[in-house]
Amino acid sequence: MINESEINILIINNSVKSAPFVKEMIAATYNMWRLGWDERNGGNISYLLNEEEVTPYLDVKHPVRTSILDFPVPELANKYFIVTGSGKYFKNVKDNPEDCLGIIRVDTTGHKIDILWGFADGGKPTSELPSHFMSHIARLKVDQNHRIIMHNHATNILAMTFTHDLNEKSFTKTLWQMCTECIVVFPDGVGILPWMVPGTDEIGQRTAEKMADHRLVIWPFHGIFGAGTTMDETFGLIETAEKAAQIYTIISSHQGGIKQVITDKELEDLAKAFGVTPIEGVLTI
Ligand code: 13P
Ligand code: ZN
Repeated sequence: MINESEINILIINNSVKSAPFVKEMIAATYNMWRLGWDERNGGNISYLLNEEEVTPYLDVKHPVRTSILDFPVPELANKYFIVTGSGKYFKNVKDNPEDCLGIIRVDTTGHKIDILWGFADGGKPTSELPSHFMSHIARLKVDQNHRIIMHNHATNILAMTFTHDLNEKSFTKTLWQMCTECIVVFPDGVGILPWMVPGTDEIGQRTAEKMADHRLVIWPFHGIFGAGTTMDETFGLIETAEKAAQIYTIISSHQGGIKQVITDKELEDLAKAFGVTPIEGVLTI
């Protein structure tokens, strides 16, 4: 016989699944997997939520469990996030959101997180939580509407880290040259880290440093991090860079070689026409 508190938990769990932010996480993870960017458990997303978005669906006074952070984030005290779980396969999120996702709140000190919903099989947030949290801190400093950090193993971006030099300025310029819309979508270019061991506080710090100037940060031979104000915008940002990297990969292996490109002057004209300011040091006019 099911008791009253179990009934309450069932009601809560069912209602959380209908929350718009859960639906957005399901759609994004499924699309990322469908595009081949997130093999196995590759990739992770964290989405900053307002308390008012969460309280209609959750009893925030009663965390399911608490876990200690080994990288304190006092800047994020009392903030709510929905995050993907470590080791979870993106293709499975839609059928099993309560195992694959979790709603967490950083405690008042920034030393612990309360798990409010999800990770139902005893799971935990993504192993890239240091990079996510530190990147959120960096982006919130420059954009008060910032909400999403998204990481994946976008195929052609990853491939391009083998075939292109890893200089941020020349990598940015090549991407801008590949599709007319690129400079408009990411005038802030891409940041690039040296190869590093993932999942560490150190890669988190280095990613966040780059996030101060760029919403896209490339981890060579691994993947990409994107930041944005909405799920669509962040997804679209990575999608645009990935498309450019795909064009680069196609044309680089074309036997006839590259015959012409968009010139720096044309890129500058584009930026002016769309009212964006290209990051300095890339275009030479
Ligand atoms: P998680 O499964 O811990 O999120 O790790 C996936 C990943 O892409 C690591 O960089
Ligand atoms: Zn990864």
